[in-house]
Amino acid sequence: MGKKVLVTGGAGFIGSNFIQYAVPRRDDWEIVNLDKLTYAGNLENLKEVEGAANYKFVKGDITNNELVNYLFEKYRFDYVVNFAAESHVDRSILGSEAFFRTNVLGANVLLEAARRFGVEKFLQVSTDEVYGSLGEEGLFTEQTPLSPNSPYSASKAGADVMAKAFHHTYGLPTVITRCSNNYGPYQFPEKLIPLMIINALHNKELPVYGDGLNVRDWIYVIDHNRAIETVLENGKPGEVYNVGASREMKNIEIVKLILKILGKPESLIKFVKDRPGHDRRYAIDSSKIKKELGWQPEFEFEEAIVRTVEWYKNNENWWRRIISGEYQKYYEKQYSNR
Ligand code: NAD
Ligand code: TYD
Repeated sequence: MGKKVLVTGGAGFIGSNFIQYAVPRRDDWEIVNLDKLTYAGNLENLKEVEGAANYKFVKGDITNNELVNYLFEKYRFDYVVNFAAESHVDRSILGSEAFFRTNVLGANVLLEAARRFGVEKFLQVSTDEVYGSLGEEGLFTEQTPLSPNSPYSASKAGADVMAKAFHHTYGLPTVITRCSNNYGPYQFPEKLIPLMIINALHNKELPVYGDGLNVRDWIYVIDHNRAIETVLENGKPGEVYNVGASREMKNIEIVKLILKILGKPESLIKFVKDRPGHDRRYAIDSSKIKKELGWQPEFEFEEAIVRTVEWYKNNENWWRRIISGEYQKYYEKQYSNR
């Protein structure tokens, strides 16, 4: 039987990769993409699926109760995948209000509508950042207590506990995925990897925060999206699934690798003032999703990072249009005086 699928935030980095992955493969899904098109939402990411019979775009805000209820009434969704979020830690440090509105209130509006109309599965796309920061040793498991440190991760944790409470209280079949740092095509160039690639292509300084020894655990975006597809179909209601590819890297290692792939000198690296409250290390244990649902990452980091760098090299038009506009103002604010 076909499924009606509400995807929110489908014009952003991970959501647009999800839709591009799903539309051609899942003719049993009718996908409705609800996206506000904030600075991070870009319909150019979705050119390839425009006009597909099983895909529709709706411009709108997940905090808009009336619109969300109208869509649930009209389509009677079987599945909801909530990607929509303000997603950048540095912006959440400059101001947290939009983060609270979209990430907490928006998730709540969607959960309420799902409760009212009923759904088969509600997947809240979350992050390993809700667990806080690790020391030198250890991994985040699904049992690690929530201890978010940034306004971004605090707002994501807010949505997670609300999704859990809706399962506990109302029996709503919610599932949560907590994934580590993603990389791949269409990532907005405020995030580490695309920012460094684009700066290097311009022979511009690469601003590394603090000592550059903070660790992130990297996963290719398609592997994350395959995990989302798996959890949507087979995840057990009320459960949390960590998602990661066990590829820890220090920031400085990633930056040097990007320079090496592009044949640019390390003299472009500039150590700048650290991010306030900067989490030291993230590393995720994804044995539960592997054991219980049979998911495995497929992409090798060494290959996929080269592929990603190549994509940015070959898609200059895509990022040029972004950095010429509103993003430029953010860049000035974020990196002047550092
Ligand atoms: P992104 O910033 O690239 O995209 C977010 C999308 O949400 C944009 O298209 C934006 O227009 C849309 N949006 C924002 N506010 C909205 C609102 N009020 N109503 C409707 N749409 C709205 O983010 P991303 O990196 O693709 O992240 C997607 C999700 O995955 C987020 O929930 C994020 O917390 C989570 N996540 C991201 C990562 C990562 O490494 N990027 C890792 C784990 C989890
Ligand atoms: P980011 O891509 O913002 O993801 P997150 O903070 O959600 O993990 O940053 C990844 C790491 O790179 C993080 O430790 C901060 C660091 N970083 C820099 O050193 N310089 C930069 O310009 C940016 C954007 C990030």
